[in-house]
Amino acid sequence: MKFFIDTADLKEIEEAASWGVLAGVTTNPSLYARIGGKLADFSTHIQRICALVDGPVSAEAVGTSRNDIVREARELAALAANVAVKIPIGIEGLAATRVLANEGIPVNVTLVFSVPQAIMAARAGARYISPFIGRFDDIGEDGLAQIADISDAVANYDWRGVGIGDEEPEIIAASIRSVQHVAQVALLGIDIATVPFNILEKCLTHPLTDQGIAAFLNDWEKVLQA
Ligand code: G3P
Repeated sequence: MKFFIDTADLKEIEEAASWGVLAGVTTNPSLYARIGGKLADFSTHIQRICALVDGPVSAEAVGTSRNDIVREARELAALAANVAVKIPIGIEGLAATRVLANEGIPVNVTLVFSVPQAIMAARAGARYISPFIGRFDDIGEDGLAQIADISDAVANYDWRGVGIGDEEPEIIAASIRSVQHVAQVALLGIDIATVPFNILEKCLTHPLTDQGIAAFLNDWEKVLQA
């Protein structure tokens, strides 16, 4: 499983990139608003993120008609070679995805909550498909069961030639809220987990690891005193 970070915060991205495991970034309008982002700075901000990461950076189109989405997506894709355009699932989004895939622009179809949505996104040429786990749990459903079904359904088919060249769509587990979510999507064999910074940090900690390090350092002191 590859790790993406789900944030628009440059410091978080830079720090996570320095750990050596970061394969991409996902942003959305809410994450950009959370860091106090302004429209005038948006393009530059996406370019800065793209320069920090050796991997795809999802930047979301906010248009609601296929023509607006396509126009916006072309502008986003022109910002850097590693931009993937994020588009919410829906009729307009699907139609735009097909146009963009035909042009070789990678699309991350987002806000996916069902198998049919995922299969139609793949059929439209999506490079990435993003089922949201936490938000499905929020309404009393089972986000992990849903992404397992989506992953199985997508794996039933050979997608070569459907999207960009022979690239198969990859599933991105999004709306991850806990270390347990990360563990479970890895056990399911999901391609990518996009994880908020605080949960990425938590993935690395364990009380027994802390205890073990403290004991090693304590014993090493004894060696130094001997
Ligand atoms: O990648 C999607 C993510 O940002 C949504 O997370 O926690 O707002 O459901 P959340």
